[in-house]
Amino acid sequence: MTHTQHRPWTTTLREHQRLRQQISKLKTFLSFGAESEDDVEWAMELVRRLADLGDSLGSHFDHEEHSSLFRTVPFEVPRFAHRIDAFRSEHRAMMRDLGAIQTRLADSPSRRLSSIAQDASAFLGRVERHEEGENEILQEVYQVDVAAAD
Ligand SMILES: [Fe+2]
Ligand SMILES: [Fe+2]
Repeated sequence: MTHTQHRPWTTTLREHQRLRQQISKLKTFLSFGAESEDDVEWAMELVRRLADLGDSLGSHFDHEEHSSLFRTVPFEVPRFAHRIDAFRSEHRAMMRDLGAIQTRLADSPSRRLSSIAQDASAFLGRVERHEEGENEILQEVYQVDVAAAD
């Protein structure tokens, strides 16, 4: 096994922690819901929060795809390669899905805020599962590293 030194996971883990906080606040916001289907103030606030989330996710995915988790782990620990490949595809899919929700939200004449809120909550659940899956891999890789260093 290749001897692996301490890996710079700190940034990824810190970003995961920040994302968790951002998502949890957004879930709380969504759980209160709009007062009506034409609650413009609530819709504007959701637009702002989804834009912030999009920024966070975009830079997080970009950072992650340049990190050793995506760059070297698939070669060093081939049994993780498939899952890591799936994470990369999910990044694209999640950005597309978020964009679709934002487009519906921007279409004020025909939008239904309650259904958008539901889909946004489901989307957040998906992001959470994605990040948890990555944390699992990070933990397993850490154990492989520790075993290799022994
Ligand atoms: Fe990811
Ligand atoms: Fe991540």
